[in-house]
Amino acid sequence: MRFDVLTLFPEMFPGYLGQSLLNLAIERGLVEVEVHNIRDWAKGKHKSVDDRPFGGGPGMVLSPEPVVECVEEVQQQADAPGKVVMLTPGGRRLDQKVVEEYSEAQRLVLLCGRYEGFDQRVVDILQPDELSIGDFILNGGEVAAMVVIDAVVRMVPGVLGDEQSNKQDSFSGEDRLLEFAQYTRPREYRGHVVPEVLLTGNHPEIAEWRKQNSLERTRRRRSDLLAGNQEQDDSDEV
Ligand SMILES: C[S@@+](CC[C@H](N)C(=O)[O-])C[C@H]1O[C@@H](n2cnc3c(N)ncnc32)[C@H](O)[C@@H]1O
Repeated sequence: MRFDVLTLFPEMFPGYLGQSLLNLAIERGLVEVEVHNIRDWAKGKHKSVDDRPFGGGPGMVLSPEPVVECVEEVQQQADAPGKVVMLTPGGRRLDQKVVEEYSEAQRLVLLCGRYEGFDQRVVDILQPDELSIGDFILNGGEVAAMVVIDAVVRMVPGVLGDEQSNKQDSFSGEDRLLEFAQYTRPREYRGHVVPEVLLTGNHPEIAEWRKQNSLERTRRRRSDLLAGNQEQDDSDEV
């Protein structure tokens, strides 16, 4: 799978791309990440990429020309144009279902904003998938792009050592509930003991304990996820 990141701050990426799982995926040829500087598409002596907003107000707005031309040219740099994803607080909210949807794409072109964001004509012309990583404001789209890459690469076959692990993760698999509590050695720590059933080697009983633990944690912490399951069941019946 190929990711292209379009940003005004390409130097933010090498450290992140060099980290363990992602670095390994890149080295093994499972994932390719190309980072492009939008400023390379700016014209004029000052290579300016932004301007004051029409109508007044604070901050600067990213100009349409360098952004649109950067996206169009980068799209031509591989066989498939890819899915263009604009990181913006006004987009649809990222969740594990969106991650799974993106992992089906051969190529994602991730467009990172800065300052007051993009001129509306970037959206009108490119018609990207507008994506938010949550209801808060970041300084730029770079961290949001890293979040997308980080989550999507986990779904690329071969990236995780154990293919089962992303199925039992929270928000994943058929039930999309929170994951059950996990324990490792020692069996006892500061008076807190590992649940006895996990030490029995009885796999059906362990599976049942985990299922109940996952349900209970979800009920206590994220009952909205159970409601989501209910809606799913209801719509299946229609
Ligand atoms: C300071 S923000 C601009 C916010 C914009 N003025 C608004 O109110 O919607 C600059 C850039 O950071 C990125 N960004 C900020 N918050 C984000 C979020 N929650 N999800 C995705 N990208 C975000 C976007 O690329 C955005 O263009």
